[in-house]
Amino acid sequence: MNFEPNYQKMKNDIRSLKDVEFLVDHFYEAIQQDSFIGPIFNLRLEGRWEMHHKKLYRFWHTVLLRRPDYFGNPVPLHYQMNIDKRHFSRWLTIWSSIIDANFEGVIADRAKFRGETMAGAFLEKIQKEAEK
Ligand code: HEM
Repeated sequence: MNFEPNYQKMKNDIRSLKDVEFLVDHFYEAIQQDSFIGPIFNLRLEGRWEMHHKKLYRFWHTVLLRRPDYFGNPVPLHYQMNIDKRHFSRWLTIWSSIIDANFEGVIADRAKFRGETMAGAFLEKIQKEAEK
């Protein structure tokens, strides 16, 4: 018996808010268990995870399905977290592997692509801020 997610099943694309919620929930479950970047999230978000999930549903819903319901500016929140290229690289590995394990299609590809470009953009801004 194999209990891998979606084993021998066709994977669907990310098509609805429900799919976005599924992706975000599984992504942060994996993040929380990661020994390298998990503690950064767990320390900062202790007691506030539910609020974080709700924000991230809206963020990815906006980015992936183009439903504008996130209007924040997330980058400055990442200053002073002491994170660099290695942390973003781990973030991206987890993000892509959760997508690949559960979804496939145009939006799933967009999710991986946007994860990569935004991680790069966040990192660049963080580095510029640190040089000030
Ligand atoms: C290793 C890399 C990263 C770490 C450690 C990290 C950590 C965090 C933490 C701890 C928060 C909560 C901040 C707070 O509410 O006090 C947060 C918020 C957020 N992060 Fe990240 N993050 C990382 C990368 C990214 C990337 C690449 C993206 C986008 C693709 C992203 C998008 C967001 C968004 C949208 C929020 C919510 C902002 C808001 O409150 O409006 N993060 N992040």
